[in-house]
Amino acid sequence: MLSRTFDLNSQSYKQNPYPTLARMVAEGPVVRVRFPWLGKLWMVTRYEAASELLRDRERFVREPRSAGMPQRSNLPWWFPRSMQPMAEVMINRDEPDHRRLRGLVDQAFLRHGVEQLRPRFDAIMRQMLDELEVKFRRDGHPIDLVAGLARPFPLAVISELLGLPAEDRPMFAKLAGAFSGRPSPLVLYRMLGAIKSINTYIREQIRICRAKPRQGLISELISARQEDERLTEDEMVSMVILLLLAGHMTTVHLIGAGLYTLLTHPEQKRSLLSDGSLVETTVDELLRYLSPVQMTKPMMPVRDLEWHGKRLQRGEKVVALLAAANVDPQKFEHPDRFDIHRSPNPHLAFGAGIHVCLGLRLARAEAEIALEQLLNRFPKLELAIPPSQVTWSRQLGTRGMEALPVRLM
Ligand code: HEM
Repeated sequence: MLSRTFDLNSQSYKQNPYPTLARMVAEGPVVRVRFPWLGKLWMVTRYEAASELLRDRERFVREPRSAGMPQRSNLPWWFPRSMQPMAEVMINRDEPDHRRLRGLVDQAFLRHGVEQLRPRFDAIMRQMLDELEVKFRRDGHPIDLVAGLARPFPLAVISELLGLPAEDRPMFAKLAGAFSGRPSPLVLYRMLGAIKSINTYIREQIRICRAKPRQGLISELISARQEDERLTEDEMVSMVILLLLAGHMTTVHLIGAGLYTLLTHPEQKRSLLSDGSLVETTVDELLRYLSPVQMTKPMMPVRDLEWHGKRLQRGEKVVALLAAANVDPQKFEHPDRFDIHRSPNPHLAFGAGIHVCLGLRLARAEAEIALEQLLNRFPKLELAIPPSQVTWSRQLGTRGMEALPVRLM
């Protein structure tokens, strides 16, 4: 079987992915590709097939052992065994373990309803904008909205939700930087070092919370119980790291690239400014149009099977290319048109099935707060460089900005 190389990581793809995605949709629904680090895999590029893949628990699983494969986890051979618990987070698990883990964290999440926390998140954003405005007025230089807002805001939100001390955020922000480079041995080395440091830090925070419970999800997770089950120490550490990582960079990309998209579509920005009630459909359209998480984690067929015209072998990796499914013309009219009025908008940006994003309400709320406050306060906000000079993140499998220099007014 021939495998194709589609470069889903170049600046030109990130700048304008739609022609490549259109080709992949046309060649789909199932395309064999070679992908950096993951090797050869199947990519599911059409909406209906991607949705089916993510919901079909009879034929597709996440854990190699559920597919009868000898290896214990999806970890590559070079991954340190001491970090095995990281591979056993719920995003990599099948039922019934996944249900148990997700049930415990869902409970804790429910008690910290997003709506209840919204005023606090609003206040965090207001303070960040106050600081940016002072800086802009004082220096008169363009402001980088990724460094000044898109990165620190989701980090502040997820840290507050977890109950992590505010003074530790700069340290975490630095560690998170290790995940953003183009795949290379050096980046890999840095990533492993960062995971190790985060692991040690979270273990320590859990120890402190056990001794003296405080507000936040960590203390909730310590006491969460379901049918008399609790999280083990390793499961708790991995769960908090998953929440911290999944809840951070994804939202950074939605806010950063979302602002860029609005600034490069001035008529859509004007519509939003003149009717603030469009903010919800705007966020959903940004999720569809950008797919900040471009693809899911791999699934595996439990047996050899003929699926959408391709012969898949047991244990082979199959990913849903959400970015392609979200621009499938069979599902979305004029898919490469950014239209904040699009409704309904049944995009797959948060995945589907049992692993559908746990933080989707939180992510939507964060993006709404960022857009509302920023545009209402600085309606004349504009890019400080031509769109072609903007740099996109080199992180694999995501689409977001590295930096976004703007003039606030
Ligand atoms: C724009 C923001 C976000 C996007 C685009 C996004 C996207 C996704 C996607 C596509 C998945 C499914 C992946 C798969 O099936 O392999 C997922 C799962 C997940 N997300 Fe998000 N996410 C976002 C924000 C968040 C936030 C803020 C949190 C945390 C508070 C979060 C926590 C999770 C978790 C824990 C899972 C795994 C769920 C499970 O396995 O049951 N995400 N997300």
